[in-house]
Amino acid sequence: MQFWHGRQADSKNQETPQMSRYEDFYRQSVDAPEAFWAEQARLIDWQAPPTQVLDASQPPFARWFVGGTTNLCHNAVDRHLADRADQPALVFVSTETGTEKTYSFRELHAEVQRTAASLAALGVGKGDRVLIYMPMIPEAAFAMLACARIGAIHCVVFGGFASGSLATRIEDAEPKVVVSADAGSRGGKVIAYKPLLDEAIRLSKHKPSAVMLTDRGLAPMDLVAGRDHLAADLALQHHDAVVPCTWLAATDISYTIYTSGTTGKPKGVQRDVGGYAVALAASMKHIFDGRAGETYFSTSDIGWVVGHSYIVYGPLIAGMATLMYEGLPTQGIDKQPDGGIWWRLVEKYKVTVMFSAPTAVRVLKKQDPALLSKYDLSSLRALFLAGEPLDEPTARWISNGLGVPIIDNYWQTESGWPMITIANGIEAKPSKFGSPGVPMYGYRIKILHEATGEELTGPNEKGVVVVEGPTPPGFMQTVWKDDQRFVDTYWKSVPGKMVYSTFDWGIRDEDGYFYILGRTDDVINVAGHRLGTREIEESISGHANVAEVAVVGVADALKGQVAMAFVVPKDGRALADADAALKLEGEIMKVVADQLGALARPARVRFVSGLPKTRSGKLLRRAIQAVCEQRDPGDLTTMDDPATLQQIKQLVSSA
Ligand code: PRX
Repeated sequence: MQFWHGRQADSKNQETPQMSRYEDFYRQSVDAPEAFWAEQARLIDWQAPPTQVLDASQPPFARWFVGGTTNLCHNAVDRHLADRADQPALVFVSTETGTEKTYSFRELHAEVQRTAASLAALGVGKGDRVLIYMPMIPEAAFAMLACARIGAIHCVVFGGFASGSLATRIEDAEPKVVVSADAGSRGGKVIAYKPLLDEAIRLSKHKPSAVMLTDRGLAPMDLVAGRDHLAADLALQHHDAVVPCTWLAATDISYTIYTSGTTGKPKGVQRDVGGYAVALAASMKHIFDGRAGETYFSTSDIGWVVGHSYIVYGPLIAGMATLMYEGLPTQGIDKQPDGGIWWRLVEKYKVTVMFSAPTAVRVLKKQDPALLSKYDLSSLRALFLAGEPLDEPTARWISNGLGVPIIDNYWQTESGWPMITIANGIEAKPSKFGSPGVPMYGYRIKILHEATGEELTGPNEKGVVVVEGPTPPGFMQTVWKDDQRFVDTYWKSVPGKMVYSTFDWGIRDEDGYFYILGRTDDVINVAGHRLGTREIEESISGHANVAEVAVVGVADALKGQVAMAFVVPKDGRALADADAALKLEGEIMKVVADQLGALARPARVRFVSGLPKTRSGKLLRRAIQAVCEQRDPGDLTTMDDPATLQQIKQLVSSA
């Protein structure tokens, strides 16, 4: 018998009895991160290659690909012109306006240059911030790519946010220019953006010097002379613009995106250029298994991190067409109800990789199951779901319906790409219901005891999920303008250890699969959208008749969680009179919807005479949440006044 010990050409085929292909890949990434990521860096184009793969000399800050220069827009657009200029790059479908349009890489290149020239004409240069407050239209992607092209830092704010949320972000990002549109549309209802933007700029201490507006013809706009410009006018002036890519240091800032945490003030998650490009290119290959020339369809929104990574940059960097969809999952192109619209699009555009959220699947579950077999879905290789826990019935339903692997993936705005999942491009490891999978390459993920910081290595021991530094490429660099907040918030929450806290509870089973068990902080997850209860509380406190308020996330069959508010009113009428309570509840809901957006509006506002607190005055949100979910509220020995919790219990049980 002959043995052959040589290295095989395709490392994917290197099987050893002890280690699976993925384990081997993972080990290389954590044992020799520099060699591993130097190899991954070859997946993108560099103008100058890095001279140092990793600079971890100032923990917890990790600087990747030091000395290298590159550009995200070059990698997403220009570099594909040689091989696939006339292939689709961006497919836009709006069931809100009945639009369907495909842009080739060549056309995308031209659009992005027009937008880049327009922004430059408004004074935008390298390092300037551009805040993008846009519906899901191609112009939003053009603006992001244009910023990346000229080295401006983009900051996309979710179009569903209202003026209060937008004002906070304008004030923190200090944009030179805001890019927006007349309106968005949802379920056929036009939402005028311009008045919300005008109000936000009025509220913000920082004022942008210019606003560039796409007029979709959906809502009238009052233009502010000298400040507001129509995008179409600028594009006409720069129709044939040639704007070369500005070569940026790998460690320069590409964008910020705001996310909620424990305080009422959202954090600007800041990302680099080179590390992000490499992380996305690697994830497209190893995790999503997406190939150039194919179509990728993510149903997220550009206002969220999934949209940044997997509507705009990831698929384009991989040379794939990205399908951008504006509309509900249950609405046809002719504006008639159509619960099969996504599957129709998968068939029409031969989508190979799809990315969505469990909430969306739960909405579809209410539709006729025949819609899943009506279309030819043979192009589809996998459906990835993220953003919230994937419950087993939902996973089974969609898995049976589609007949392709359903891959749960766990990550955060902070990480930029999946942290725990199955690396389908390396090895199609089996999934386990309820678990997103195993730690991704580059991530040293541990479970620590919340109070002692001790590592929990046994199966099913519950603790806080943390990442040991150095964090991999693509991970947030810092909090925008606030290194101290980055260190204090994320890296000092576990006693005695400098590790990154995800603020999620988790366990790991005997096979190394992780299970995520919810947040350790006051963040809630409504229909896959991350919201801070403190922000909602601050908004509610603004109502003249509110003395005190507690907002908690309560389990909901469709949305995962909904916000529930408990308010101590200043005058007691809402406590004694049902009509007064209903009126005040309506007013409070309106305050939140107007300031933060409909997404943050509590499902219910209940009135109480006091809130459960510890003797030192700390709100016992977790106990309130447990009572709302009919669970045991746990240890209440530190509670000041047990009658407060009793009152909530009665309110909830009488509902
Ligand atoms: O609590 C976890 C939950 O969503 C949080 C991150 O939300 P966001 O910053 O909006 O990023 C979403 C990126 C996909 C996490 O801290 N979460 C996210 N994915 C999962 C999840 N919970 C359970 N399972 C998941 N797959």
